[in-house]
Amino acid sequence: MIAEREQTQRVKRREMRGHTAVVTGAATGLGCEIALSFARRGVNVAFNYIELPDRDISAQALLTETTLRACGVEVYSEHCDVRDSEAVTTFVANAHAQLGGLHYLVNNAGIAHDGALWRMTDLAWDEVLQTNLTGAFNCIRAIAPFLRNQRYGKVVSISSHQAYQPGFGIANYTASKAALVGLTKSAAVDLGAYNVNVNAVAPGFVKTELLSTLPSEIVADAEHGSVLGRIAEPEDVANVVVFLCSDDARHITGQVILVDGGLTLH
Ligand SMILES: NC(=O)c1ccc[n+]([C@@H]2O[C@H](COP(=O)([O-])OP(=O)(O)OC[C@H]3O[C@@H](n4cnc5c(N)ncnc54)[C@H](O)[C@@H]3O)[C@@H](O)[C@H]2O)c1
Repeated sequence: MIAEREQTQRVKRREMRGHTAVVTGAATGLGCEIALSFARRGVNVAFNYIELPDRDISAQALLTETTLRACGVEVYSEHCDVRDSEAVTTFVANAHAQLGGLHYLVNNAGIAHDGALWRMTDLAWDEVLQTNLTGAFNCIRAIAPFLRNQRYGKVVSISSHQAYQPGFGIANYTASKAALVGLTKSAAVDLGAYNVNVNAVAPGFVKTELLSTLPSEIVADAEHGSVLGRIAEPEDVANVVVFLCSDDARHITGQVILVDGGLTLH
């Protein structure tokens, strides 16, 4: 009887409206667009952020929160560093208490700290690995009990095309984004029995503030080097993330979807 009920639960399609998404680093850029894509579908959003040098992230977080609320959904935001596992556990518990449920996790928070390998400092290596990889692990581990208990959930991590095709001077970034693919596959195995899908999206270059810090020739090369001849808008990636969180993608797990306009085909 129990097995029968569980079987029914596993195949039942669920609507996204009224569910809750946790999106890390969603004050700005891609994370903000992902959060908005959820909100437009009636999904409540919890997001976190930290300040970054020469950026006014707190002000952008406030703006993002206001824009999300204007979509008519519940929003919870917190200054929380994904590198700090205790802070992440508290953030996830607060989000659950405030919004009444957790269904989707998007590991979007990420940084780059580029430099030729032989000049890369310990700090540059550690900060990038701690944020992009350990941060994602901390978040998956913190949300896993909620998803396991309800036998339902979706996790999507934002990797990068550079996990597969690194440019010069990004050993830390490439290692972190490639390891995120390993974490995705492994988490998919561990959580699959609990009806939790775990996938990754690997964008090519996306038009965000992060992109404006790159030399213009790299961006131009990416535009002309992609098969589709364009750089992604944030919504090109956000749409795929939301698809992976929908039950249209319920039979996809442990996969990485490259959203790069064919950049890695060459
Ligand atoms: N923009 C691109 O071309 C591109 C391409 C491929 C992948 N990505 C990935 O997409 C993600 C978003 O990038 P973006 O372009 O929107 O950059 P962004 O700098 O605008 O956003 C990153 C966000 O992460 C947050 N953040 C950074 N460190 C954090 C930490 N320790 N704890 C909590 N939050 C933290 C910041 O507050 C910021 O809001 C990153 O993982 C990035 O690696 C971006």
